[in-house]
Parts: sequence; structure tokens; C-alpha cells
Amino acid sequence: TTKHRIALIPGDGIGAEVLPSAQQVLDVLGRRHGFGLSYTSYDWSCERYLREGAMMPDDGIDQLRDKDAILLGAVGYPGVPDHVSLWGLLIPIRRSFRQYVNLRPIRVFEGIDSPVRGALPGEVDFVVVRENMEGEYSEVGGRLNRGFPDEIAVQEAVFTRAGVTRVLDYAFTLASRRGGCLTSATKSNGIVHTMPFWDQLVTERAASFPQVTWDQEHIDALAAKFVLEPARFDVVVASNLFGDILSDLAAAVAGSIGVAPAANLNPERDFPSMFEPVHGSAPDIAGQKIANPLGAIWSAAMMLDHLGHPAAAKDITDAIASVLAKTDVRTRDLGGTATTAEFTDKLIELL
Ligand code: NAD
Ligand code: IPM
Ligand code: MN
Repeated sequence: TTKHRIALIPGDGIGAEVLPSAQQVLDVLGRRHGFGLSYTSYDWSCERYLREGAMMPDDGIDQLRDKDAILLGAVGYPGVPDHVSLWGLLIPIRRSFRQYVNLRPIRVFEGIDSPVRGALPGEVDFVVVRENMEGEYSEVGGRLNRGFPDEIAVQEAVFTRAGVTRVLDYAFTLASRRGGCLTSATKSNGIVHTMPFWDQLVTERAASFPQVTWDQEHIDALAAKFVLEPARFDVVVASNLFGDILSDLAAAVAGSIGVAPAANLNPERDFPSMFEPVHGSAPDIAGQKIANPLGAIWSAAMMLDHLGHPAAAKDITDAIASVLAKTDVRTRDLGGTATTAEFTDKLIELL
């Protein structure tokens, strides 16, 4: 049988609470579908930073390089500045392994009471394709005159033709396969260099995908439409920061940010891809064992899909749909009282 080598990085807060749920589900499916998963666990986290002065060892990236995939919980915790923890672990993994696509699907499942009136089960089912390596997330810039009246901070956004084109190609191809339409998030009315460039590249790439209907929306109006008419979206492509914000918004429309999964993909497969829930370490509920594990479990499904086990992946999304449709077992973010473990057990029962 195939044995996939998986790097596990539980990370901080609820990251470490939801990852075991994903792992339990994976092991059931491995037995059923006849593949093996061997895990290597890494304690890379803010705790490690406080103990050893770094989020991961100097050769951390090299330790991951030969893995088939990375499954991550969440990174960042009070006590270590976020830009230190995230730029010391999560962002270097995304960049070193050229994970330039961040795929974030969203569905309103039957049995979910969306906070948005018109967001009906079966109708809201779309995916945010987030550029994951450049854009507004950039090290170009600096801070001067700290503490003085003329203090200044400058942050440059970097968009490259190659970087934008490759994520657009991924998004148009996906839209074409889904037989739907593509929406590009822009802000070319306010951001006068990078966003008109983004729009131009969208128009250029669209010419190669005549079968895809597409449009563009300014990010502010788009945010409103996510709430007012979420059912009309199919594939939404966005820059790094816009995609980050839209994906939490979409998750909230689907009921809770605890539900949303993410695949940080290296489409060329030169390097491992990384799978992680969209949410963070949630310090406000960490330690209470009440975190919703759905985002992590769904991320594990995306990992199986990527590793060539689409049937096993579908077993997981089917079980997610069943547990929500057929039972009222839910974690607190979805209005229930189940603990992380109780919810996971119920889902596995229906798997
Ligand atoms: P967050 O996602 O951790 O939490 C936002 C809110 O959503 C909180 O009220 C939290 O309790 C709730 N929530 C999140 N996930 C949940 C779940 N699975 N079940 C139930 N409720 C859930 O976002 P934040 O508060 O902005 O960030 C906290 C820390 O996490 C920061 O250090 C941040 O940088 C980091 N973070 C990391 C990642 C990542 O590793 N990919 C992603 C986002 C934030
Ligand atoms: C996410 C997170 C990260 C991001 C942060 C923690 C750097 O919000 O994965 O969505 O912005 O990419
Ligand atoms: Mn985010």
C-alpha cells in the first residue's frame, strides 16, 4: 500500500486541539481505502519560540521538504508578536514551497443556521482562490523615527506578472472545470498601480478561457455582496490580503470561521503543499476543548484529494454533511454544547 509521509505541525492554542480530530478521521479512512499515513510531528510554536528563541530550527524548511504534505493547526499566541510568529513559521513555509494558491472552499451545509438570512444550504457553494506568496504581504518597506513626531511606517505591495498570472491561470482553470463563473476582487478605483495591473492581467488571461464567464468587483462592494447574495459566487480570485479577508467573511456566512478549510497548494508539486483550517489559534477559547474541528477535518479531506484519494476525501465531506444534517451535535460556535472530542466522535460514527 502507498504510504504518505505527513508532517504534523499542531502549533498554538486550538491548533493543537483540532489537529488530533483530523488525524483520527484520516486514520479511519486510511484503513478503509487502503493507504497508509506516517506522521512526523513538529513542536514548532510560540512555546518553542519562548523556550529556544525561534519558531522552528534553522533547517526547519529542509526537514519538511521530503514530506508528501503538511497538516498544520494554527500559529500565533499572545506573548509573541504576531509578525514574529507568523513570519517565523507559516509564511516561510508558504513561500519556500511556492504554495502560491490558497484554496478556500465554502459551503452552507444543511442543518447550519447561517447568520445571513439569504444564505441557504445547497445554494451557497463557492471557493476563494487567494494569491498566497506576494501582493500586500511583503517585506519591502520600513519604519523610521520610532517614537518621534515624524515617525513613519511604509509598506510596499509587490505584484509580479508571473506571480499574478499563475494564480489567475489556476483560478480560471478551476472555474472552467466547475462550469461556472469567476469573480475577480479588485480596488482599481483606489489603488492606482497594483490593482489596475491586476485587472489588466485578469483581462489578458480571460482571453485564454473563453468558456468562463467572468467579472470583477471592487473589494468593498464585493464584501457587501458576500453577505447580500452569497449564492451567486462560484470562483472568487483575490490578492493575498483581499483573499484573506474574504475567506473569513465567507466562513462566517457559512456559519462559523471554525468550519472553513484551506489548501496552500504548490500546483507543480515540486514541494509539499500545506493544509490548515482558515481560523487561527483562538486564544479566547484555547484550553477549553470546545473548538470546532470541522475546518481541520475538511482541510484533511483536501489533503487526501491532493494525495490522490478523492473517494476518501468525499467520505469526509459526506460525513461533515451528515453530522450537520442528521444530528444536532455541534460545538459552541454553531450553537451547540459538544466538546471537540464529542463532535469528532459523532462525525466518525457517521463516516
Ligand atoms: P482566530 O481565528 O484565532 O479567532 C477569531 C474568533 O473566532 C475567536 O473568537 C475564536 O474563538 C473564534 N474561532 C476561531 N476558530 C474557531 C473554532 N475552530 N471553533 C470555534 N471558534 C473559533 O483569529 P484571531 O483572534 O485574529 O487570531 C488569533 C491568533 O491566531 C493570532 O496570533 C493570529 O495571528 C493567529 N492566526 C493564525 C492563523 C494560521 O495559523 N493560519 C490564522 C489566523 C490567525
Ligand atoms: C490566514 C491567516 C494568516 C494570513 C496570518 C496569521 C498571517 O490569517 O492563514 O488566513 O493572513 O495569511
Ligand atoms: Mn486569515
